[in-house]
Amino acid sequence: GAPVIIDTDPGLDDALALFLAFRSPELDVRGVVTVAGNIGIDHTTRNARALLRVAGREDVPVVRGAARPFAREPFHAPGIHGEDGLGGIDVPEPRAPEHPAAALDWLADEIDSHPAGAVRILALGPLTNVARLIVERPEQARLIGGVVAMGGAVRDRGNVTPHAEFNIAADPEAAAVVLASGVPVTLVPLDVTRQVAADEAWAERLAARGGALAALTRQLHGAYLDNIAALRASLGVAEAERRPHAFPLHDPCVILHAVRPELFHPERLRLRVVRDRSERDGATVIDPAGDAADVLTGADAPAALAFVADRLAG
Ligand code: BDR
Ligand code: CA
Repeated sequence: GAPVIIDTDPGLDDALALFLAFRSPELDVRGVVTVAGNIGIDHTTRNARALLRVAGREDVPVVRGAARPFAREPFHAPGIHGEDGLGGIDVPEPRAPEHPAAALDWLADEIDSHPAGAVRILALGPLTNVARLIVERPEQARLIGGVVAMGGAVRDRGNVTPHAEFNIAADPEAAAVVLASGVPVTLVPLDVTRQVAADEAWAERLAARGGALAALTRQLHGAYLDNIAALRASLGVAEAERRPHAFPLHDPCVILHAVRPELFHPERLRLRVVRDRSERDGATVIDPAGDAADVLTGADAPAALAFVADRLAG
């Protein structure tokens, strides 16, 4: 398969993305680098190791990445992902130890061990590690084939504020560095991930097909719906309107794009990341003076959902 590095902050939907990646022979996952995001770095690193155990892939190195954003205070989302990042769901204790290398050293060595342009980074959390690689290891950054990153809300509304999406809002300076770097960027914003939304019937049909990943996927899916409902209850939303109808498969869309790009519609857009600490802070806005990226804005959602279920079943 194609060599990829997964950069992640698990995270309920990160977990599904990791499962999908390990069930995809088109990909050769060289390693998983963690980042602080949905929850702190101790949890995201431990969760990544536990999820690799569930997937039967403890041979893949898990490397601890950045504990804090580029220039901001850490900003987490325990209300959605739980205090442990995995919705309080029981996952087995990881057995394989964390890889001992520092993330930038590990990334640079891994990139150097492949031909130029061969390795792509699939980024599922704030872009802190990727930005640090670009700034601190520019020679290796130039050798990356591309970065596919879940992040942003381009024409659609945000999810942490009306304007901003979580991964960009958590580290907007890092996102700006990555977009301006010249590394080919494919952005997977809420505009497309909200289209690929898995309802409860999807999760139940998947669990009925059997298998450890399918069973855990249903639990993670349920935790997301429960946590959103609890958040809405705390905001005074009427009971009948609390439980969302579906779980948008944000991070799995990145893996899916690496495996089946034809399921998505890209647009070449110029984007600017707002970093002025105004109410639009963290927004990704279309701006002719911004940096060019391939932005996924459409998907064949029924085919995407069926594909993910087929890979996770059994
Ligand atoms: C993104 O933020 C995180 O909460 C999810 O894991 C996903 O990467 C969605 O905005
Ligand atoms: Ca994530």
